[in-house]
Amino acid sequence: MKEEKYAVYFDEDGSCVQVPENTTLLEAQILAGKMPQAYCGGKGTCGKCKVEANGKVVLACQTPVTADTHVRTAGPEKKTQILMTEREQNAVFQAEERFLSMPQPVLAAVDIGTTTVVVYLMDAKTGKLLCMQSCLNPQGKYGADVVSRCSYAMEHGADTLSSVIRNAVNDLLGQALKQSGRGRGDLMRIVFVGNTGMHHLFLELPVKQLVLAPYHPYQKEACVLSASECQIEANAEAEVWWLPNIGGFVGADTVGCILASNLPSCEEMTLMVDIGTNGEMVLGDKNGMIACSTAAGPAFEGAKITCGMRGSEGAIDKVWPDNGKIRYHVLGEGDAAGICGSGLLDAAAAFLETEIIDETGRLEETYYFQENVFLNQKDIRELQLAKAAIAAGIRILCMRKGIEVSDIRRVLLAGAFGNYLDPDSACAIGLLPEELRERIEQVGNAAGEGAQMAALDPSAFETAKKYAAETEFLELALDPAFQDIYIDELEFGPQED
Ligand code: FES
Repeated sequence: MKEEKYAVYFDEDGSCVQVPENTTLLEAQILAGKMPQAYCGGKGTCGKCKVEANGKVVLACQTPVTADTHVRTAGPEKKTQILMTEREQNAVFQAEERFLSMPQPVLAAVDIGTTTVVVYLMDAKTGKLLCMQSCLNPQGKYGADVVSRCSYAMEHGADTLSSVIRNAVNDLLGQALKQSGRGRGDLMRIVFVGNTGMHHLFLELPVKQLVLAPYHPYQKEACVLSASECQIEANAEAEVWWLPNIGGFVGADTVGCILASNLPSCEEMTLMVDIGTNGEMVLGDKNGMIACSTAAGPAFEGAKITCGMRGSEGAIDKVWPDNGKIRYHVLGEGDAAGICGSGLLDAAAAFLETEIIDETGRLEETYYFQENVFLNQKDIRELQLAKAAIAAGIRILCMRKGIEVSDIRRVLLAGAFGNYLDPDSACAIGLLPEELRERIEQVGNAAGEGAQMAALDPSAFETAKKYAAETEFLELALDPAFQDIYIDELEFGPQED
């Protein structure tokens, strides 16, 4: 019997795709090359994939195509703020001998974040940064968080997720090379960092043992592959290097952060926190390091929050109290379309101060910033879960290290969210310990910096391997103290040490 096909028209840009009957509208969007917001990966639970289909508002992931359909979305996604950090150039750069005879060799560093991908291109003879390029991680259409994407890979195979990210990296490298006046043949080495999930999905490794017990990486060791094996378009002799993973979701990106901050040679007890869809934390000094990750949940990335969105145009990104009133700022200065992670954190701090919420997080009634943008009780509860996971992680790391929270001398906030959040708000709600407020430094994209260091210097790659091997991994969920401390940390405001 001949398979019935229907046309799906995307009214915003006039494009169209033919799909077999019962394809979902979400699948049709993906087939048409769109970047739909599918935070839950099509499970029908996040509500972010709403579209208008033939005049009716539906969830794209739950709506099969049974006739020709006209689709309208909220419009193309606005440009998201992407954090790119330029590494400070060392005074002395020693080029590798073999590059000196080449006309214009280049090296690349790639930071694959769950939400964004950043590529750095560097001159292999001078070590100078030539160009940075970034995009949203195209795997986002298969789920906002690592677990949703790994579940997708377990159900449908990892090849789709692997090829979309490899294609995106090839596109970014192509743009960076073009902008720098170089060609694919000039590209000699590409060093990657990313959390364990991003690492496994890129390399098409099994992910089941990562998202289900025993929650272990399939591969922890650093790897060196030929670029062609990974379908990365570069010089025929080019290599792909991945920094090692530490354990659980504490991956090569955290190793990049440790390398960039040189944490293992710190005299002072230092806490590094990278908050994204997961929260990764490392505590230590020259006498040893301990790391853990917490399922902070994607609340800080806009998922699971009713009006949540990424930090792009239209997002409320700052909120503050002013004489008992709540004021806010919208990215792009127009009307608000939603609220992003930094806005959410500020809002909770401002609501606490003005008693719109109490320490238990109770919200008398839904708070409206505008008619279409609000925070309700469920949103505040989601924030509490995420906040408690991070705060409990910090306290347990201290316990296992045998120190008091107040013994921490420096707090390094890495990653995009760590860069954009207001440390005062983070301390006011108890996400970070209040007593450490004056010791907080926002260090930008440290993972990307670590990848740049390893790309420029093979000995830094060796150092990264050593740091990863020396870092103790703590599986928080199995720690006997976790449940009690987590429940304790659900309350807003500073907690007892
Ligand atoms: S509800 Fe459709 S992707 Fe989440």
